[in-house]
Amino acid sequence: MSKVILGIESSCDDTSAAVIRDRVLLSNVIASQQVHKDYGGVVPELASRAHEQNIVPVVSRALDLAGISAEDLDAIAFTRGPGLLGSLLVGTSFAKALGLSLGKPIVMVNHLQGHILANFIRQEGKPVDEPSFPYLCLLVSGGNSQIVRVDSPLTFTILGQTIDDAVGEAFDKCAKMLGLGYPGGPVIDRLASQGDPSRFTFAKPHIPGLDYSFSGVKTSLLYFVRDQVAADPDFLQNNKEDLCASFQKTLIDILMDKLVKAARQTGIRQITIGGGVSANSGLRSRLVEEGRRRGWKTWLPEFKFTTDNAAMIAIAGYFHYLEGETAPLDVAPVSRISDF
Ligand code: KG4
Repeated sequence: MSKVILGIESSCDDTSAAVIRDRVLLSNVIASQQVHKDYGGVVPELASRAHEQNIVPVVSRALDLAGISAEDLDAIAFTRGPGLLGSLLVGTSFAKALGLSLGKPIVMVNHLQGHILANFIRQEGKPVDEPSFPYLCLLVSGGNSQIVRVDSPLTFTILGQTIDDAVGEAFDKCAKMLGLGYPGGPVIDRLASQGDPSRFTFAKPHIPGLDYSFSGVKTSLLYFVRDQVAADPDFLQNNKEDLCASFQKTLIDILMDKLVKAARQTGIRQITIGGGVSANSGLRSRLVEEGRRRGWKTWLPEFKFTTDNAAMIAIAGYFHYLEGETAPLDVAPVSRISDF
């Protein structure tokens, strides 16, 4: 019997709803909040208010586009965390209310599991090409930088993670430092494509094992720019592209060094990436290139599944639902989840 799952995502500043039938995506609606643009970052209170305004039309639209009536749903999956508590509260409360009114089970999903499982979203008319188990996922976003071993759709082991900033934070903070705006990742990515990645070098951390650190490279860029601007006030303006290319290359080198080490240590040669930073064109091409060189099979999520979206919540919810893992109605959202 086929299973129809509604996914709801509201962990940060995107309100999203998606419907899948088994693993096939029927609809994926995302309302991105523009209200934060003037503030240089997401304002939590404004985000939760915008989620409240968006959630009903977004869910209705997702059901309409899928051609599914709410009564036909088997379960409602929602992001329980991690994320902004006020934002999560909107999606969680909505899922509970909808579940209660329809008499349907609800399924809680860890947002990070959604990113890790994004490659399992199937789409009508597209060939199925999914990793088998075990595989490694380089999970890179504004809040996380982890290497995760995935042994089944619901079995995850964190092999390494950042001990300070996430790589997305390094992109965002450094873009702010260079006066490039927020979110910085996409801007640095675009400028980097026009610059010389070998022009400048920045200090790389020496962290044992498979853990990451990104705070030092950020400081290295800060001091370098400060000294250069003191000598030449036009330095930033005249070297933006090369600075972005060199800084981005340093971040990618750091990410890839540990990923290569993890693949060597585990013997696993199936590698995926996930999370907002997996949209980075430099990282994507580098993963493919390393994969070719090292005999890995690699998977890159489609761009629309790299940033926050409910399709990945629906697919993760589907796997939980198959295992009978439904949530009680008194479940509360959580802003932080330290493990899977
Ligand atoms: O997963 P995500 O959408 O949100 C959470 O962290 O929850 O990730 C957002 C992060 C931001 O730091 C943003 O700058 C980064 O992903 N990002 C990128 C790119 N697109 C988004 N970083 C580098 N290159 C990109 N093209």
